[in-house]
Formats: sequence, structure tokens, C-alpha cells
Amino acid sequence: MRYLVFGGAGFLGSHLVESLEGEITVVDDLSTVKYIELPPNVKLIKERVESFKTDEKFDYVIHLAARPSPDDYVQHPVETALANSIGTYNALEIARRSDAIFFFTSSSEIYGHADVIPTPEDYWGKVNPTGVRSCYDESKRFSESLIMAYYREYGLDVRIQRPFNVYGPRLREDGSYGRVVSRFIAQALRNEDLTVYGDGNQTRAFLYVSDWVEATKRMLEPRKDLKGVVLNVGSDKETRIIDLANLIIRLTGSRSKIRFLPPRPDDPPRRAADVTRAKQLLNWEPRVNLEEGLKRTIEWFKVRL
Ligand SMILES: NC(=O)c1ccc[n+]([C@@H]2O[C@H](COP(=O)([O-])OP(=O)(O)OC[C@H]3O[C@@H](n4cnc5c(N)ncnc54)[C@H](O)[C@@H]3O)[C@@H](O)[C@H]2O)c1
Repeated sequence: MRYLVFGGAGFLGSHLVESLEGEITVVDDLSTVKYIELPPNVKLIKERVESFKTDEKFDYVIHLAARPSPDDYVQHPVETALANSIGTYNALEIARRSDAIFFFTSSSEIYGHADVIPTPEDYWGKVNPTGVRSCYDESKRFSESLIMAYYREYGLDVRIQRPFNVYGPRLREDGSYGRVVSRFIAQALRNEDLTVYGDGNQTRAFLYVSDWVEATKRMLEPRKDLKGVVLNVGSDKETRIIDLANLIIRLTGSRSKIRFLPPRPDDPPRRAADVTRAKQLLNWEPRVNLEEGLKRTIEWFKVRL
């Protein structure tokens, strides 16, 4: 099998490619990468998803290239929007010429301030189309729309995944790239204050990366009934951010305290995945609970920070 993986040097991409067997080309501009850990057989090309050109043929085109950290993408709104629009178009064209299976990581962010929690795939979303986060969530929504257009007009075999807060080793913790789990772990290991936006009552549902890899590999199977599928991949167990912070302080044995910062604009108050469809279709369910996943992630960070 020949895989072309855009954004394959990042957190999810690196875990995915180390589980794939075949000839793997990763195209990544390395814009958000800190920990590059790719298997030696992977060919890495430093290039943007919007501009990469090739005449080669692939069995799979996988598009993970994006700037997913809110603090980072609000500083790079144009790059963020283009990766998920022109980038998606370019990746789709490469897939169409190859008659490849096309896989895209959309995001739970496309649901915006969802009224239905846990959120099923047929919830249409409640998104601010011009807000500071729209460069990310609206471009993911456009990508989904364009991908379904390729499915309907050209019969391309497409699969859309909406991941919800996946965490684990290699999830960048620093500066504007840090995401909540890795940022809290790093702060706790350094005995610094854990910084919580707002009052900490906002919820997220966390999925450990090995569970994500398993779901994704099942989504990539060459099954005809997965053509055109849209699936949530995440957890339905809601955790308040304040509880996550306290749990990480306990698991690290840290002396850290919690410091509250002003809330982020348009930050969704609650988020959890309805994964009924993924469970049925993929015969999959999360196996690693939050405490166990955090312990593994903490162990990984302990030797790197
Ligand atoms: N981790 C999560 O919880 C989560 C949740 C929802 C959606 N996603 C989506 O999953 C995908 C992977 O996310 P991740 O968590 O591994 O983040 P990441 O930042 O670690 O990985 C993204 C990768 O894309 C690359 N990239 C960014 N812009 C690019 C461009 N224009 N051209 C080429 N490469 C580019 C980055 O260098 C990086 O290697 C993204 O599409 C993201 O939106 C992730």
C-alpha cells in the first residue's frame, strides 16, 4: 500500500504512520511540530499541503495538516483557513488522480456551541462564522463540504473523521501550541500554576491516542460501506477542565496551584462525542480510561521536560 500523509509529522500523524505498513510519504511544513519521531522508512517532504505537487499514484491520501491549537491558529488565521480549503482541494485532486481512498480529520469544533451533548454526527453545529475561531472551524466545515462534493460528483471514496480532544505522548505542551492536557502536565511537572481559562466549568471529553489510532485504522479499511462516512471519534465521558487540572496535580504529585485566566472568546462551554455510530460501524470503543492515559502521558513527558 502507498500512503500519502499530509501533516503526518504531527502528534496524530506520527502515531498513525508508525502503525501503518507500506510505503509512506509524509508531506508536512513542520509548522506546529516539536517532537519529530517518525519511523526510518517514512519519506518526509517539507512542503505545504496547499502547494505540494506530484505525479505519483497512491492508494491512500490522508489529510491531517492543520494548525489545531486555538492560541496558535488565532495568530495564523490565513494559514489555518488555507490549509483546510485550498489544501483540502489540492489533496482531493491528488486522491482523484490516483483513485485513492481519501481520509480527512475534521474536528469536533465544527459543532461549535452545541446544544446536544454528547453530540451526534447529524447535529448541524452552531458556529460563529466570522469569530476568531472561524478560520479553523469554518474551514473544517468547508473541507467537509468539498469532500462530500467530490464523493457525490466523482464517486471518490472519502471518509471524514471528527476527532474530539485526543491526547498522549508528543502532544506539544509549549507556548501557543500547547493543548490543555499537555500544557497542564508540563505545568504540574514544573510545579508551576496550572492556567485555566474561565471558571474551569467548561467540559471536554478526552480520548487517548492509541484508541484514536485503532479507530482510524478501522476507518481506513477498504470496505465499500465506509465510502462517504462521517464519524465522531472521541469519548462520551465529559470532564470539567477544573477536574482535569486537579487530577493531573494529583497524578504528578505536584505542588502546583490553579490560576484562572480570562475566558477565551467563543470557547465552547461543553463538548462530548456521541460515538454510537463509530462503535457500531467500526466495532470499536475506547479502551484506555482518562487516569490510565494521563499516567502514560505523564511518564512520557517526565523524561523530556
Ligand atoms: N488532537 C486532537 O485532539 C484533534 C482534535 C480535532 C481535530 N484534530 C485534527 O487532527 C489533525 C492532526 O492534529 P494534531 O493534533 O496531530 O496536530 P499537530 O499540530 O500535531 O499536527 C498537524 C500537522 O500538520 C502540519 N501542518 C500544519 N499546517 C500545514 C500546512 N499548511 N501544510 C502542511 N503541513 C501542515 C503541522 O506541521 C503538523 O505536523 C489536524 O487536522 C487537526 O485539526 C485533532
